[in-house]
Amino acid sequence: MLKFSNLTKTFGDKTILNNVSFQINNPAHLHVLTGESGSGKTTLLNIMFGLDHDYQGKYELFGVDSKTYKNKNWDHLRTEDIKMVFQDFKLFDQLTIYENLYLSGDFEDEEIYSILESMDLLSLKNEYVKNISGGQKQRVAIGRAVLGSPKIILLDEPTGNLDGMTTDKIMEYIIKIKNKGILFFIITHDHSILEYADVIYKLENGKIYETYQKNENELLENSPNLEKVKNIKTKKHIFTYTFLSMFRKKKRLFC
Ligand SMILES: Nc1ncnc2c1ncn2[C@@H]1O[C@H](COP(=O)(O)OP(=O)(O)OP(=O)(O)O)[C@@H](O)[C@H]1O
Ligand SMILES: [Mg+2]
Repeated sequence: MLKFSNLTKTFGDKTILNNVSFQINNPAHLHVLTGESGSGKTTLLNIMFGLDHDYQGKYELFGVDSKTYKNKNWDHLRTEDIKMVFQDFKLFDQLTIYENLYLSGDFEDEEIYSILESMDLLSLKNEYVKNISGGQKQRVAIGRAVLGSPKIILLDEPTGNLDGMTTDKIMEYIIKIKNKGILFFIITHDHSILEYADVIYKLENGKIYETYQKNENELLENSPNLEKVKNIKTKKHIFTYTFLSMFRKKKRLFC
């Protein structure tokens, strides 16, 4: 879904991303990118979300070179297909939780309530955002991103200002929603998130290293490559079957 080829990003004489190539495809996995403060995590997220087009190399989103997307395409993508949960939430403090979700797009109450319920926020729906806790705000921000079931949700430091217990709760919500088929890509320097990750990318000195994959068997089971192998095997079986049938028929014909 997201593919980077030889991506380089500089600010003046500072190289933040140095010729990196990697791709993120499988929504069954929780993808987490980690790196020291100042390593370039938000810079990468801004490129992913189409807020920064000033880079060298290629970024393909949904199989299309993202530089070919016009502003109106990006608006559409950001409304329908790819959402971002910002570190500072970008919620309207003077509005209620429900209003924040309702005003974010053209959504039915039924969907809003179902998301609020799954995030344990339904009983708080009429609370003003200015009066709720950081963990609750984070859940509202995630809930708002989930509305409309986009294909990808990017999260910038979702647990940056939360304590350990709240972090665990937020991660449990994310895992629950991830199972609905949304691809989550999280950037963080919070190491406690890593234990929830299936794939971990490390950003260091401008390079990205894929460092760890949890439960390789499970990954293989869900991997599109395995699907390919299965297809090849199936095709091979069909070929062998057809060939043998023909051979048998030929034998019958000529013997
Ligand atoms: N608009 C900009 N102009 C110049 N330099 C910038 C700009 N934005 C970011 N930088 C620099 O790029 C580097 C990476 O910044 P970035 O915000 O991506 O880091 P980060 O990994 O998200 O850090 P943190 O964990 O603290 O949020 C930093 O050295 C930062 O100063
Ligand atoms: Mg950052």
